[in-house]
Amino acid sequence: MKSLDIKSFLAVPFVINKILYGFIAFDSNNTFGILSKKYLSLYNLLTEVVTNLYSRYLNESELIKITDTNRSLIQAVEQSANSVVITDVRGNIEYVNPKFVERTGYSYAEVIGQNSRILKSGHTPSSEYEILWKTISLGKSWKGQFKNIDKHNNIFWEQATISPIINETGIITQFLAIKEDITEKLLQENQRSLSNKMESIGQLAAGIAHEINTPMQYVGDNANFLADSYSSMTKVFFDFNAFLEDGNNYTNDEIRDFYQDKKEEMDLDFIFEEVPEALEQTKIGIEHVTKIVKAMKDFAHPGAKEKAYFDLNKGLQNTVAISKNEWKYVAEIDLNLDESLTEILCLQNELNQVFLNMIVNSAHAIEEKNKKNNANELGKITIETKRKDQIAFVKFSDTGSGIKKKDIDRIFDPFFTTKEVGKGTGQGLAIVHDIIVNKHNGKIFVESEEGIGTSFNIELPLNEVKEQI
Ligand SMILES: Nc1ncnc2c1ncn2[C@@H]1O[C@H](COP(=O)(O)OP(=O)(O)O)[C@@H](O)[C@H]1O
Ligand SMILES: [Mg+2]
Repeated sequence: MKSLDIKSFLAVPFVINKILYGFIAFDSNNTFGILSKKYLSLYNLLTEVVTNLYSRYLNESELIKITDTNRSLIQAVEQSANSVVITDVRGNIEYVNPKFVERTGYSYAEVIGQNSRILKSGHTPSSEYEILWKTISLGKSWKGQFKNIDKHNNIFWEQATISPIINETGIITQFLAIKEDITEKLLQENQRSLSNKMESIGQLAAGIAHEINTPMQYVGDNANFLADSYSSMTKVFFDFNAFLEDGNNYTNDEIRDFYQDKKEEMDLDFIFEEVPEALEQTKIGIEHVTKIVKAMKDFAHPGAKEKAYFDLNKGLQNTVAISKNEWKYVAEIDLNLDESLTEILCLQNELNQVFLNMIVNSAHAIEEKNKKNNANELGKITIETKRKDQIAFVKFSDTGSGIKKKDIDRIFDPFFTTKEVGKGTGQGLAIVHDIIVNKHNGKIFVESEEGIGTSFNIELPLNEVKEQI
């Protein structure tokens, strides 16, 4: 300061909105001159001018920032691949983005002012809408699926998130809906689950053929034996008849001897003893085949795409029957079924697919454990059903290899498998999860201990009414 010949110095802070932005400095080459009264009002004036100017600069740059952000936001919404709708609190449409226009076929002008219910197909139950309105009116977000109808009467599915827009005073002013068109995705999933079903029937076919072939073989052997027995018996009968009618008067002893000789010659005692046994076995064999064929027919039921009433216990029994060849060499199955579980509204084919995937996984796990322990023990698969209040419980437990801790969070991921190529596709549990959670609003939990076994608990709500493809 000395070199600048500054003798006195005054720094006045400038503060905007209680924030200190800096100081305005005044200096003078007069000692104390700068503090003289006549300049003080000038300093104050100058400080005020600078503060005002700076404040305006700040406001403008803030405004530019806000305008820039708004522009990006508008662009993001306008270009979004999801439909965006803003309605007032009564559901009247105030804004829709171009994706909405593209998906629904309605022009912007056509929908503004309309109520959002113009897309209602009548297929989403009104209870669902009630929950939606209750949730968003409470200031919370709602997530769910709609089966909607567009301007040209085409059905489409949307996955929507609807949230209230709340102003500074905490009042809901509008609702914002962001909706993804999932029609294609659902169709693909349906296709995938169908092709998976066909695949599993294909895989089971060899086993089923074997299951049918074994009884058919002894039914065939028995039929040959019965045919031979019949011709032996008729031979005895006709010979005896001819003997009695050959015109001679035989004594009783002669008649008895002839009969005894014939009986021994044709081995009738053996026939009398074996025929009932052969008939019984044949009956059992035919019943067995009939049961498998019926189970197969039920399992592969062309099936409703809509939910229908279905007996879960029966579904489990059928699936156990047709998959017998998959498990019988490694395990016994204990079925512990709750008779009070009446028919439930569900997708029968899909649930059969779930049961099959669970049984096959358990059988594989038991096989895996045996392989690891170099053992050949029959494991156990327990299938239990239970009804409690409005929920059907289905539990699959096995004494298999268990699941490693590091894998347990990944087992439901599509394509996650610990099995060798050709044995596992990693699709099974992903499909199970989709069927239980998405298609039936149910739940699935897993508990497992490595080396001990695994349990899957499935819960299905009995009053499930949600619409699906
Ligand atoms: N009951 C079970 N016991 C042990 N591990 C299991 C069981 N069920 C599933 N897993 C594990 O979860 C993985 C994924 O199963 P899944 O989706 O059915 O595919 P994949 O059977 O084709 O491997 C399996 O590879 C296996 O590691
Ligand atoms: Mg599997």
